[in-house]
Amino acid sequence: MSDANATAGAKKAGFHIDQAKYERMYADSISNPEAFWGEHGKRLDWIKPYTKVKNTSFAYDNVSIKWFEDGTLNVSANCIDRHLATRGDQTAIIWEADDPNETPQHISYKELHAQTCKMANVLKAMGVGKGDRVVIYMPMIPEAAYAMLACARIGAIHSIVFAGFSPDALGARINGCDAKVVITADHAPRGGRKTKLKDNVNQALLHDTSDVKCLVVQRTGDQVAWRRDLDFWWHEEAEKVSADCPPEEMNAEDPLFILYTSGSTGMPKGVVHTTGGYLTYASMTHEYIFDYHEGDIYWCTADVGWVTGHSYIVYGPLANGATTLMFEGVPTYPDAGRFWQVCERHKVTQFYTAPTAIRALMGKGTGPVEGSDLSSLRILGSVGEPINPEAWNWYNENVGKGKCPIVDTWWQTETGGILITPLPGVIDTPKPGSATKPFFGVKPVVLDDQGNELDGETSGVLALKDSWPGQMRTVWGDHSRFVSTYFEMFKGYYFSGDGCRRDADGDYWITGRVDDVINVSGHRMGTAEVESALVAHATVSEAAVVGYPHDIKGQGIYCYVTLMDGVEATEALRTELGNWVRQEIGPIAKPDVIQWAPGLPKTRSGKIMRRILRKIAENDFDSLGDTSTLADPSVVDELIANRTKA
Ligand code: WT7
Repeated sequence: MSDANATAGAKKAGFHIDQAKYERMYADSISNPEAFWGEHGKRLDWIKPYTKVKNTSFAYDNVSIKWFEDGTLNVSANCIDRHLATRGDQTAIIWEADDPNETPQHISYKELHAQTCKMANVLKAMGVGKGDRVVIYMPMIPEAAYAMLACARIGAIHSIVFAGFSPDALGARINGCDAKVVITADHAPRGGRKTKLKDNVNQALLHDTSDVKCLVVQRTGDQVAWRRDLDFWWHEEAEKVSADCPPEEMNAEDPLFILYTSGSTGMPKGVVHTTGGYLTYASMTHEYIFDYHEGDIYWCTADVGWVTGHSYIVYGPLANGATTLMFEGVPTYPDAGRFWQVCERHKVTQFYTAPTAIRALMGKGTGPVEGSDLSSLRILGSVGEPINPEAWNWYNENVGKGKCPIVDTWWQTETGGILITPLPGVIDTPKPGSATKPFFGVKPVVLDDQGNELDGETSGVLALKDSWPGQMRTVWGDHSRFVSTYFEMFKGYYFSGDGCRRDADGDYWITGRVDDVINVSGHRMGTAEVESALVAHATVSEAAVVGYPHDIKGQGIYCYVTLMDGVEATEALRTELGNWVRQEIGPIAKPDVIQWAPGLPKTRSGKIMRRILRKIAENDFDSLGDTSTLADPSVVDELIANRTKA
């Protein structure tokens, strides 16, 4: 930890960073990234220290990103072993179950070490070695963290699949990275209900011929179907192995994990993150942005199935020797006071959640918040989508009681860690809705459609001009897709896919995606994925999917569906199609609106004009723009006429 003013307890005398320090460090990080990151890379324990710091190119014909490339280290040793001497008995993970009556667990760093080593040894016994892929499909239980760290320990690459994804989506991800083993649980309790994880794995592997093995954590004790010779119970295997497993020496650029994320075209891509740069960046951002101090109880409400859970529940906090809280449940179970009860119960100091959760809780009034003592809270965070000022104010007044700085953190699966955010000691006048300023080493630019950099107060698309250590390195198995997705449209830049505005103070306001990705409850969904699920149904001839403003979710999923000739458009079919998409992808992809569309607005070359579909979904019929280039302009009138019937 870098600052000397760290003392135990919740209230701290000062923040890690103040305005002057921010400006000085930011200027240093931009003027000499080699020296800056050369210094901050030392926050990790290296087996072989690096001598090269930065070797990166955003040039379209030569995209290559390497940080600390000749250094070696082990991520699990950095998150566990190096803390044992000084904080072996300190709690590493506080686990809070879905059911508030189930006793929380406190896992010390010593215990974390033993459990991670055991799981690493079990994986080895199952044939997993350095470079092999392991899919993790788990509830939010400590074993999910053991699984991640066990992979990191033996140099296996994990790919976590959110437990809310369907068997099909899971199967595609298992195949996509050729996983040797899937780690799962019998059932996942969430919000008082249970998801049959193991059964989903069985279904995902139904046609598997490569004998993917499965390690199963017993969470609920419910019955599961067993595949003889391929399935193993974690609690049985753990008995057979040692609680010590030497960490594998990994190169800084060896892959740590793959995480599939939706894009504007095609199926989700496997974002690849590596070890040295990723962990440096995750741990440094965690410390400064959440103003993490010794003795704090830090809680990020995300799921490890998303990148937020990777960087800000597991890797960043544990690399910093923090106490990180893992929550199995949902904000509204058993009631809308659950988040606040957990804050009070564990004396949480940093609380990091998503605007969609805040909006959902806002709707329940202030009663549930007032019922809990939130005086331990010091810093609040927001992530996943732009936070609307109403939600920001509600969060500030009712949760932070006007005393907690709010960090509105902009980043992406691809960026590995937070890129744009206010820093706690640097906020004097908060700007609700603005992610404000870049973190150290981050060089945002606003571009026009032609890729020209715009100066001063302006708006356009958000791009990054240079690399930072946490950046993704490639798309798993498809480097050319990495280059074409992020570096082709605007040569020489990393293109984020987001639009943004920069105000007169130089603060950034993220305005949302400019591509065909929609943001549903802070989760990314490719419209193309939903479309392909819809057209896979026997009755559907064509489908076009767009986002539209949704009070709670931020954006909802709006589907225009053209049925096969002769198929009748009934309410029953509408329901069936909704459930079909839910089944194909997962509950998060369930359409909010399905509108029958006898025809879709297409250009003469056959391209669907989504701009028009978005406007109709938004009920904004006056600014449809030029429709004269459509092959059949009359379809627009028909869609508008049908809008209210959807
Ligand atoms: C997209 C990335 C990174 C963790 C969670 C989502 C949107 C994220 C913010 C924010 C405005 C935000 C962007 C981005 N987004 N944080 N603070 N303000 N927009 O990760 O699934 O990779 O989605 O989420 O549109 O591109 P993700």
